[in-house]
Amino acid sequence: MTTMLMPLRLRPVRLRAARLLVVLLPAAFCTLPVPMAAQEATQIAAPFRTRHTDVDSLLQAMTLEEKLGLLHGTEDPAGKAGAGYVPGIERLGIPPLRLTDGPAGIRTALPATALPAPVMLAATFDPVLARRFGAVMGREGRAREQDVLLSPMVNIVRVPQAGRNFETLGEDPLLAGRIVAAEIRGIEGEGMLATVKHFVANNFERDRLRIDAAVGERALHEIYLPAFEVAVRAGVGSVMCAYNKVNGTHACDSRRLLTETLRERFGFEGWVMSDWYARHSLEALEAGLDQEMPGVSFGPMQPVLFSDSLRVAVEGGGVPEALVDRAVRRILNQMDRMGMLGGGAPRPEIDVEAGAATARDVALAGAVLLRNEHGTLPLTRDGVASLAVIGPTAKTLLYGGGGSSQVPPFRQESPIAALERRAGVGAHIHYVAGIDLDGVPVPSTVLTPAGEPEASGLMRTASDSTTQVDPVVDYTGSNALPVDTEWTWIGTFTAPVTGDYELKLQTGGGSGTLSLDGNRLLSTGGFFNDASLIPTSDGLSSATARLHLEAGEARDMELSVRGGAGGGFLGTPAGQPLQVRLAWVTPERRQAFLEEAAAAAGAARAVVVFAYDEGTEGRDRPTLALPEPQDALVASVAAANPRTTVLLNTGDPVLMPWLGETGAVLQMWYPGQEGADATAALLLGEAVPGGRLPVTFPLSDELTPIASASERYPGVEGRASYDEGIYVGYRWYDAEDVQPLFPFGHGLSYTTFAYSALRITTAGDGFDVRFRVRNTGALEGSEVAQVYLGPPDDPPANMAPRQLVGFERLRIPPGEEREVTVHIGERQLSYWSVEEHDWSVASGRRAVYVGRSSRDVRLRDEITAEEGGH
Ligand code: BGC
Repeated sequence: MTTMLMPLRLRPVRLRAARLLVVLLPAAFCTLPVPMAAQEATQIAAPFRTRHTDVDSLLQAMTLEEKLGLLHGTEDPAGKAGAGYVPGIERLGIPPLRLTDGPAGIRTALPATALPAPVMLAATFDPVLARRFGAVMGREGRAREQDVLLSPMVNIVRVPQAGRNFETLGEDPLLAGRIVAAEIRGIEGEGMLATVKHFVANNFERDRLRIDAAVGERALHEIYLPAFEVAVRAGVGSVMCAYNKVNGTHACDSRRLLTETLRERFGFEGWVMSDWYARHSLEALEAGLDQEMPGVSFGPMQPVLFSDSLRVAVEGGGVPEALVDRAVRRILNQMDRMGMLGGGAPRPEIDVEAGAATARDVALAGAVLLRNEHGTLPLTRDGVASLAVIGPTAKTLLYGGGGSSQVPPFRQESPIAALERRAGVGAHIHYVAGIDLDGVPVPSTVLTPAGEPEASGLMRTASDSTTQVDPVVDYTGSNALPVDTEWTWIGTFTAPVTGDYELKLQTGGGSGTLSLDGNRLLSTGGFFNDASLIPTSDGLSSATARLHLEAGEARDMELSVRGGAGGGFLGTPAGQPLQVRLAWVTPERRQAFLEEAAAAAGAARAVVVFAYDEGTEGRDRPTLALPEPQDALVASVAAANPRTTVLLNTGDPVLMPWLGETGAVLQMWYPGQEGADATAALLLGEAVPGGRLPVTFPLSDELTPIASASERYPGVEGRASYDEGIYVGYRWYDAEDVQPLFPFGHGLSYTTFAYSALRITTAGDGFDVRFRVRNTGALEGSEVAQVYLGPPDDPPANMAPRQLVGFERLRIPPGEEREVTVHIGERQLSYWSVEEHDWSVASGRRAVYVGRSSRDVRLRDEITAEEGGH
């Protein structure tokens, strides 16, 4: 279906800077092979094509009931499935399918390798690592008796504050495509079926079940669809359709998306499953939805459709059985491709150390050194001999984001412990929290129990209606409440002085809610709740509300807790004593913590301050600023000591009002279970950061592509207008000439690189861009050489000033040089023509930029692409 406009022709081109005529050499003379491993990892030919079983005969032997059993999930009788279960048909040798999340590791009740957040994988710009990343999940998933992985996620980062940005692969379709192809090959190479999600335009969490993404044809094809297309070509077994609507139709009901685009244009042969409960009608089967997940009724409002209702429709002649057969065949074909039919492939053992090595390598390679003034990093011996380490995530590793991607890790270490271990003799490291995440129990002096105005505390009611006054609510540790009980506390709460307070609800062995003046303020437990990803130091789930309170104003307070299993994405195990604490941080306490941190920073030779955000499914961030009071913490620490390194554990961009006062900023994302060791190695210079930003970091909340209009985000009356078109991420910053805080592709190193000898030749369906990169520093390090393409002088449609068309991650010893060849193919030279509804080469003279980021161009030349050949 692609345009047949080849061959392209390269005209003599002038190097603008040097005014030299490019000498064209015969392509064969110049072409240097891409390193073998990289080539293998990026190949997108379908890896498994073998057919083992006669699926048509199987289908003929199946009853309608048996067929329908494959088209929806159900409860796993063995309780092993991570996220979904499809029963098998024993008499026909069809095994059950167990489905598990998710993009950062295998998520069942059992521990697994918690890999770094996928955004960190994207930051490696390394398909070879992506393949290893996928292989860890494929192998561990198979070993854990799972068959289908609900990963990778390739929704383009459009909204910088979107809750799931950490789960996906950045803002550029080419980068996301290169990574996802390799990752799928890694997953499926272990015999596990991969699922690419969420198809399509599922770009933020607010109103995610209802929002209608009004997105133009061109942006869909150029920005939001390409990574899915690449996933299909890489052989992905399954596609998960998204919750949202696209141009008025639910993605899971859309014939245009599921059939015309996915199958007829991309050639998809696998099956489409719904996101969890994202099915709306029986007509969806005809449109192209094959399987309803999880298929477990969620009350009368959420009946299972692809079960009895579908049977009745087929038996009544309303739905042809051939449609059921089509969907069943698509599922069985994929199971067959993986050798799952007729006995099934043997399951491997988990290799804990191999998984850990991959997690660590990705954490090292995806770390992005954003700033490094006056050689602040790596830390020197002197610095380590007198080092202040500040911030809660220095003590508790924030290894992953929240939601369905959360994995119970095999192991984790505290970053401060890893630093001490690696720094060894002579190190003197002083830790201060700087922020009080635990707080202290709210004292009885500010509480008045309901019905007892003379007393202090809250009125407690047990489930048998007995009451008593509790001076404080702190039933934790040996003072815990019995398993599976329910309790309520009622009264008023009166702030002693006017100021900004934090109120905290902390629970264990159950879930709780805290209300103020009749409004629910906080919850712990439940599928989506307010609990932090960082538990209290005694292991409780902790939810915090920040409130400005007036002195003497009594507020009605109600706190309820219920013991029992469930709650939260990782669940609460059954049979645990119920723990609950009502805690707070007063303005004075908060100030005292900040002052303690600044004093520790001032007394030390060097400082590392850890800051974090909590990206999570189901919730967008209200602002790009770090959660309070971290900006104040970083600012006061940096003011006390200019040799301050800020270590960021965030899933996406954050604002940095304090940037100019700091020595260095190292972006460690959510670095997975080996993140502490990787962090320590990078800080101490035992490893060199080599990651690059897969997303633009904006200067402020207002200076982002979607900030100008609520129509764009979060949408108006359930409709989000994607009228920024193709101007997503750096394409928008460049087109609007808006200065970012850090541009897409940015990342420093402990060494330096020089670029030279750019030459471009025609090759195959486009051009080969060839240049040299030399490590001019004293350390071995990794560089990501990036190639961007500009629009023609007279573009056929609005085009981005620069778009990424290729990249190569290089590891170069000091003093050595590498020759790099990046191919610009026909697709990269094309734009989506809304007249032809197809790709079309944007012909004419176009600039080629080679550099270290989208804004740091080191070499420049031009090509002339022409349609129609010589
Ligand atoms: C998420 C999916 C996930 C599924 C199963 C949904 O809520 O959107 O990404 O795979 O749950 O956990």
